[in-house]
Amino acid sequence: MNEQNLKIEKLAPNCGGEVLDIDLAHVSDEKTITALKAALAEHGVLFFRQQDITPAQQKELCRRFGELHLHPAWPRLVEGHPEVMEIYADKDTTRIAGEEWHSDVSCDLKPPLGTMLYLIETPPEGGDTLFANTCAAFEALSEPMRNLLDGLTAVHDGEPVYRQGYGEKAVERISYPRAEHPVVRTHPVNGRKGLFVNRTFTTKIVELTQRESDALLAMLFTHIEHPLFQCRFRWQSDVVAFWDNRVVQHLALWDYFPHRRRGHRVTIEGEVPF
Ligand code: SIN
Repeated sequence: MNEQNLKIEKLAPNCGGEVLDIDLAHVSDEKTITALKAALAEHGVLFFRQQDITPAQQKELCRRFGELHLHPAWPRLVEGHPEVMEIYADKDTTRIAGEEWHSDVSCDLKPPLGTMLYLIETPPEGGDTLFANTCAAFEALSEPMRNLLDGLTAVHDGEPVYRQGYGEKAVERISYPRAEHPVVRTHPVNGRKGLFVNRTFTTKIVELTQRESDALLAMLFTHIEHPLFQCRFRWQSDVVAFWDNRVVQHLALWDYFPHRRRGHRVTIEGEVPF
């Protein structure tokens, strides 16, 4: 089975596809996994409605794509499943996950391949997630700008993000994840090039002066966040989103306070970007 054999409806020209007629709790054959890998690279983020998947089944499915990732700072884990983060917000929440544009944990030496979020409870309105395709963003740049960026390296620093904690006591640690990655990375499945810098973790382009780096990063963040490269997903309960951290960034809108939003998130380990 290749990507064409899945039934997929695009959400927007450059980002997002809804996969129809698939029961994620019972995907077992390798052909479907291969097709999902191709579809993930192609659409950047896939959505699956009307799912019913336990934490154990979600982990089993994610393991078909790679080893499971343990988050360096997230305080709410599903009991008995340290690889399953509980995404949770209600009237007592002071900080949610992903309120600024980011690629998950890009400060890791091997940033995650992808993330699967199963949303169980949604607020009466709001709580959408926005996704941006960084390959489409790279391809839309002028050739001189693409040539300048390709070959540069950027610092991704976890300390400013994780030191403040997530609404509980700040996480004091001896060290925080920090890595240097190419500004332009190549997707290992389809060879497409995309921008790999984000507002949350990327602090400096190594080869440039601080002033040059600040100006260039500001331009790139604004460029990636242009609506042309995006889709915006309106959740319902029992929907799974599966995004490819190598080629999309996302932002979770917290416009539903004091209502509750809850789900289970599993993150899949990736490789050293190239
Ligand atoms: C996240 O960044 O993992 C949160 C995404 C969401 O809650 O929609």
